[in-house]
Amino acid sequence: MLALDQPARQSVRERPTVAAKANDEGKRRVRVVLVGPPGAGKGTQAEFIAEHFDIPKISTGDIFRSNVSGGSDLGKLAKKYMDAGDLVPDEVTNAMVRDRLAQDDAKAGFLLDGFPRNIAQAYELDSMLGDLGTTLDVVLDLEVDNEEVVRRLSGRRLCKKCGHVWHVEFDPPKVEDVCDKCGGELYHRDDDYPETVRHRLDVYVSQTRPLIEFYDQRKQLVGMDAHGPVEDVTERAIESLAAFAG
Ligand code: AP5
Ligand code: MG
Repeated sequence: MLALDQPARQSVRERPTVAAKANDEGKRRVRVVLVGPPGAGKGTQAEFIAEHFDIPKISTGDIFRSNVSGGSDLGKLAKKYMDAGDLVPDEVTNAMVRDRLAQDDAKAGFLLDGFPRNIAQAYELDSMLGDLGTTLDVVLDLEVDNEEVVRRLSGRRLCKKCGHVWHVEFDPPKVEDVCDKCGGELYHRDDDYPETVRHRLDVYVSQTRPLIEFYDQRKQLVGMDAHGPVEDVTERAIESLAAFAG
């Protein structure tokens, strides 16, 4: 059994060492990384958080999946790793994120979902942001236990057209296998089958979870309980991030 459970961290209000910014006038933007195990709800929350703060959502998993469905060389390469539940090589992933962060819409803020995914990528992100003359505001860790991860992943469905994330039990569309938002067809991710999920969880524990300690030591980490209904988690996430938006 994988031990994903971790002690609750301090809430943002109890972390005065993190430079909190608040500005109630005008747009409130933030530069944020979302971390958490597979199935924690990163993609689900990323959509709502990005909309709230008017920032682009940059999901490495989504970019890889759209390249896979488009049949590009990048997609062909990424598919081999994704289907096995392994990380796509750093040099490929880093180059992709570097390009995306340099685009105009990411200048005032962004939300990274699924990057960085190991310590080497975290240092690379420092370098990318340094080159752009900016820094990260906060890393939000979505904490969920093992059983919840399995429940969430086993019922996940994605829209082929708009990428919206559904769940057959917790967040079902009105019509089975049809996206409420755009009418697209829903599908089961190739890496959501039990054996691959187990391997993705192993990869998370060995490669991604060390980031939590890494960012905690830098006083950039805010942990939050990501159990409970989607709307409640969104409300807590936005409340946590609002202190960093400026
Ligand atoms: P990626 O797509 O990032 O997958 P992941 O990290 O494994 O995370 P998931 O997308 O599985 O989970 P999630 O946290 O987004 O949960 P979701 O919101 O969908 O990466 C896929 C692959 O791409 C990797 O394995 C790797 O190969 C490659 N890759 C990506 N980034 C990389 C990188 N940086 N470097 C190298 N390789 C990389 O929610 C899950 C389900 O739960 C949904 O059905 C949802 O409806 C439901 N749900 C969500 N919230 C709740 C709630 N509060 N209550 C009940 N149900 C909920
Ligand atoms: Mg996701």
